[in-house]
Amino acid sequence: MTVVDSTPLQIDLRRHLRECDEDRDLTRLICEIADASKYIIHAIRTGELGMAGTSNLYGEQQLALDVLSDRIIIKRLRHSGVVANLVSEETSEIVPIDPENDDKFSVAFDPLDGSSLVDVNLAVGTIVSIYKGRNLLQAGRNQVAAMYILYGPRTTLVYSTGKGVHEFGMNSLMEYTLNYENMRLAGPARIYSPGGLRSKYTPGTEKFVRNLEVNGTKLRYSGGFVPDINQVLIKRGGIFMYPHLADAPNGKLRLLFELNPMAYLIEQAGGAASDGRRRILDIEPDCVDLCAPVFIGTQETVTMAEQCLREEEG
Ligand code: F6P
Ligand code: MN
Repeated sequence: MTVVDSTPLQIDLRRHLRECDEDRDLTRLICEIADASKYIIHAIRTGELGMAGTSNLYGEQQLALDVLSDRIIIKRLRHSGVVANLVSEETSEIVPIDPENDDKFSVAFDPLDGSSLVDVNLAVGTIVSIYKGRNLLQAGRNQVAAMYILYGPRTTLVYSTGKGVHEFGMNSLMEYTLNYENMRLAGPARIYSPGGLRSKYTPGTEKFVRNLEVNGTKLRYSGGFVPDINQVLIKRGGIFMYPHLADAPNGKLRLLFELNPMAYLIEQAGGAASDGRRRILDIEPDCVDLCAPVFIGTQETVTMAEQCLREEEG
């Protein structure tokens, strides 16, 4: 008897990048980060949950897992041979890697976003932003690639190099294989994820949230930026926001490490990302730790947020 292997051919990440005709160095960089994520998963599953005893530039206490994830990624990038400069949310200092790579790539990343959710066993992620050359202080529209890895019940990787946005799932051999290609957001947002304390919302944001509620938009907030954005993408619509607050005019989320890469991915899916007035990807940063408010997801819902905020300003 002939046994026919009926397993559908799985397209792995490297092959997908090759078939998209990606630059060899960029392919290498993306695959290095994908490999690093396998060690981060192991750290999340088995590592110590305690504090590292240090704090980052935002005054947040670092967990041992934040520091470990940071080291895992930095080590891979350092030895990749394709990185000029890097900067991490955990250190917020631009680290020169090799001047010989000045015409290659620079990387801004958040090694373990939402790490305070690990002890309650909710999903967390790694977020990465990639620029050509050595300049990391430039508008996000100049990114040449962005990606995130989501550590949930399953591990998934989403990337874009400006040719659509694609999702991969980790299989039992720890390879990332293609789930969805060219994901697009469609229709009005049916879910919303509102960050920040509602009592601190300004009148425009409050009005926007009431509009969402009146329209039957459902609350779906996990408290982790990566799973919340992933939900918008995989459900093909929705909105995430972390608005300006009465006591925090720039919100909480960081432009270089969190907002730019997610804005790039959501725009690649036909969505939008705004700080309430302007496109996130057009903000010119003057420092690495700049924060900005954000409304990100389905285009027409982001436009509705902008309208509510304009009315607030009169
Ligand atoms: O990076 C910060 C982060 O943990 C994000 O993952 C998340 O969206 C946000 O903070 C949650 O903040 P808050 O606890 O204020 O809602
Ligand atoms: Mn973060």
